[in-house]
Amino acid sequence: METRPTPEIDYHAALAALEWQLEMGVDTAIADEPFDCYELPEKSAQAKARAPEAPVQPDPALPPVAQVALVEGPDPVAVAREAAGKAQTLEALRAAIEAYDLCDLKMGARNTVFADGKPAARVMIIGEAPGRDEDQKGLPFVGRAGHLLDKMFAAIGLSRQSPDAEAALYITNVLPWRPPGNRDPEPAEIAQMLPFLARHVDLADPDLIVLMGNAACSAALGKRGILRLRGTWAEAFGRPCLPMTHPAYLLRNPAAKREAWADLLSLRARLDQG
Ligand code: URA
Repeated sequence: METRPTPEIDYHAALAALEWQLEMGVDTAIADEPFDCYELPEKSAQAKARAPEAPVQPDPALPPVAQVALVEGPDPVAVAREAAGKAQTLEALRAAIEAYDLCDLKMGARNTVFADGKPAARVMIIGEAPGRDEDQKGLPFVGRAGHLLDKMFAAIGLSRQSPDAEAALYITNVLPWRPPGNRDPEPAEIAQMLPFLARHVDLADPDLIVLMGNAACSAALGKRGILRLRGTWAEAFGRPCLPMTHPAYLLRNPAAKREAWADLLSLRARLDQG
C-alpha cells in the first residue's frame, strides 16, 4: 500500500488553503500533484481494464444524429424542458431543479438557491446567480448586493418580507447554483436553466418582472448591454419587464444610483397604474 508523508500543514492552515481554493473557483479534487492525464497511457489502460462497462460506441446502423446523441448523452436543454414542464407547483419545480444533474455548477455548490419572498407578489425580480453568501444560506440576494437591493425596493414600498402581495417581492436568479469564483454565467449554462426559469415565471405569475443585470437580460430578452437596455420596458415570458442595473454594479459605481432611482420610480408608476 502507498504510504504518504505526514502533512506538515496544521488543521487551520489546511482549512484556510481549502477555503482559498474554493474562493478561486476550484470545484474538483483530482490528485495531490498536478499531472497531464493525456501522458499516462499505462494508468489509463489500467483504469480501462477496471471499468465495469465498455463505453457506449456509436451503432453504425443508426442515423448520424442518433449516434451523436448516444455518444454524447442526453440534451441538457431538452431534459430541463421536460422536467420543468412537468412541474405543476413551485415546490415541484424546486424539486425538479434539485434533481437536475446535467449542470456542472451543481457539483461545486453547497445549496440550490431557488427563491425568496412571496410567490403571489406582483413584482418578480430575476438576478444572475448566487454568490458566496447566497450559496451558504440557500437564498437569493442575501449578501452586500442583496442588502442594497432590499433598500432600493423599500424606497418604493416593496419588500420580500411583506405578507401583502401588493407590497411584496418575489426574487429568483437565472442560475440556481453559484458559478465558481463568482465568474459570469456561461451562455450554455443560461440556455440549459432557461426552461426552469420560464416555468418559474409561469407558476409565480407576476404582473411585472425586473431583470437585474446582463445575465437576466440575456436569459429573458436574448440581449446583453444593460447600460443601454436599462430603464426601457420590454416584454419577456409574456409580461412587461424592466431591465435595471444590478445592485453589485451600483456598489462599484455609486454614480449610477441616480438612473437606478429613475427606474424604480418607473416601476412604481407602472404598479400604480393597476
Ligand atoms: N447577485 C445575484 O444576481 N443574485 C444573487 O442572489 C446574489 C447576487
